[in-house]
Amino acid sequence: MDLRSLDNVDPEDIGSNTSAEPSVGALIERRFGRRAALRGLVGVGAIAAFGNELMGSSALAQPRGPSSLTFEEVPHGLDQTHHVPTGYDAEVVIRWGDPVVAGAPAFDPANQTAAAQEKQFGYNCDFVDVHPLPAGSTANDRFLLVVNHEYTDPGLMFSGLGAGRDVNLKVNEEQAKVEIAAHGGSVVEIVRAGQSWKVVPDSKFARRITGTTPMRISGPAAGHDKLKTSADAAGRDVLGMFNNCAGGSTPWGTWLTCEENFNFYFGSADAAKLPEAASYKRYGISKAAYGWGRYVDRFNLDKEPNEPFRFGWVVEIDPYDPSSTPIKRTALGRFKHEGCTYALAKDGRVVFYSGDDERFEYLYKFVTTKPWNRQDRAANRDLLDEGTLYVARFGDDGKIEWLPLVQGQGPLTAENGFATQADVVINARLAGDLLKATPMDRPEDVETNPVNGRTYVMLTNNTRRTEQQVNRANPVARNAHGHVIEITPKDGDHAATEGAWTIFIVGGKPGIDPAARYHRQTSDNGWLSCVDNCTFDSKGRIWIATDGAPTAAGIADGLYGADTAGYGRGLTRCFFQAPTGAEVCGPLVSPDDSTVFLAIQHPGEDAGSTYDQPSTRWPDFKDNMPPRPSVIAITKKGGGPIGS
Ligand code: FEO
Ligand code: CA
Ligand code: CA
Repeated sequence: MDLRSLDNVDPEDIGSNTSAEPSVGALIERRFGRRAALRGLVGVGAIAAFGNELMGSSALAQPRGPSSLTFEEVPHGLDQTHHVPTGYDAEVVIRWGDPVVAGAPAFDPANQTAAAQEKQFGYNCDFVDVHPLPAGSTANDRFLLVVNHEYTDPGLMFSGLGAGRDVNLKVNEEQAKVEIAAHGGSVVEIVRAGQSWKVVPDSKFARRITGTTPMRISGPAAGHDKLKTSADAAGRDVLGMFNNCAGGSTPWGTWLTCEENFNFYFGSADAAKLPEAASYKRYGISKAAYGWGRYVDRFNLDKEPNEPFRFGWVVEIDPYDPSSTPIKRTALGRFKHEGCTYALAKDGRVVFYSGDDERFEYLYKFVTTKPWNRQDRAANRDLLDEGTLYVARFGDDGKIEWLPLVQGQGPLTAENGFATQADVVINARLAGDLLKATPMDRPEDVETNPVNGRTYVMLTNNTRRTEQQVNRANPVARNAHGHVIEITPKDGDHAATEGAWTIFIVGGKPGIDPAARYHRQTSDNGWLSCVDNCTFDSKGRIWIATDGAPTAAGIADGLYGADTAGYGRGLTRCFFQAPTGAEVCGPLVSPDDSTVFLAIQHPGEDAGSTYDQPSTRWPDFKDNMPPRPSVIAITKKGGGPIGS
């Protein structure tokens, strides 16, 4: 998520964890020396996993070979359109305003209505996934494409609002309702046509989920007093989902979509005076960044103080049943979920990893109580309601501990404000504080490599980390470019409460940023900044999308591929460059490796760029069309696996 559109809040002030844990930088320095710590040479995991192929600001070894990725790199740059390597094509699959459900009117951005938007593709696409059609098929030519719509940028959506601070607060009532309808998610059916992917019009599976779609709340927090409002005295039903950033899926074929910066939607004249002030503060809830509270009471904390407790959850949706009710699964905790991706434990239980994307926030995982049932899909219907939520502590010895967030265990007692498991999941951050979890540099996507079984954590940046707050897992003070941690679960079992970790890469430009660390043969185009989402191809190579490239230096966000094993480990290579103002989201490599799907989010979201005078009109480049967030498909000319 880019925060330009939320100019009325201080994007540097979204962090709210005052925990001092664990500032082990001084300890490491004493034991190992600071330069060694920064180079990741401390600890077993670091040395073993890096081998000799990586370099830091000083090279560690001779080059031993190139990447397995042989595409011609896209040169770093920044302009109004996107770029793919020579020999590849990129096509728009679906754009903001395109029809999703039957009866959707043609997109008329100058006269957009909430009624139209409810049937059309929403704004700011982020998470992207595909579910095969028919279910269970391995044919690779027909899918349900599921996409999140994270947030709205009214300055680029509506004429006449202009740019600058507070533009979000200027919307009229109909515009606010368009925004609410442009949030949520979309399900569309896509089919392969030659090398292209086409949306099937009027598919029976097509669905728009918006900020007003009825949803059910399940798990420990369902029915808790804090979830009760004047519209829902039972605390079990809620309208819509907001700020759905990344997501995931389940082995039984449902879509997990994650509410991230939900705090921006709710505001009070003085939140510090309300009874839930301490929790609001820990979750960054004070002034609304959107202007909806003037028209819809539930966004006004002074009228509905409990509404924000109904957001910040993982939502499970069955994409195969457009009439199904989305369910907020509270057992997985309430925080700013970037995504939620699964790995299987050895005994068939399912493990879901999720980062809390804010400065100094934590990494979590949830382990289901029961294994999933491969024979009976319906038997997995409520598997996500029972399990154990853990928070991560990264040790200075290269080990990771997963600490159970279970009421009654350790400090999670009634005396400390946790009388029930509902209290724990509702205020998961506060529970993590008591367990002394490790505050991280903004955990974004967390994904497990299907080939090597290791889990990769994208830590996007944290410019507020001081020298004193540096630790081995977050080794860069004023971390502007982010880094990637690789976790190896003990005995290869994702349900294990221990594991080892190492740093895979550190972002920034080698030679300029002292902490930057990649394979020594990473080119001048291959370095990256602000890792956000990632995915893997069938060979186990990682594909990393960025959000926050240094545009002042003329570099756009992009997609980078790298080997995770062998000589090319850590050799990131630039595969895609986004149009100006955009971040790159969703990366997904199709199961047959033939296609990379990307969500191009907030094109044209540059300083001063407006609907009337945008910095780009990507992807249509028509005078009457604003920039349009879009899902694109990248394929190799003539077909074949992408990358090589
Ligand atoms: Fe919505 Fe953490 O990015
Ligand atoms: Ca981001
Ligand atoms: Ca993100």
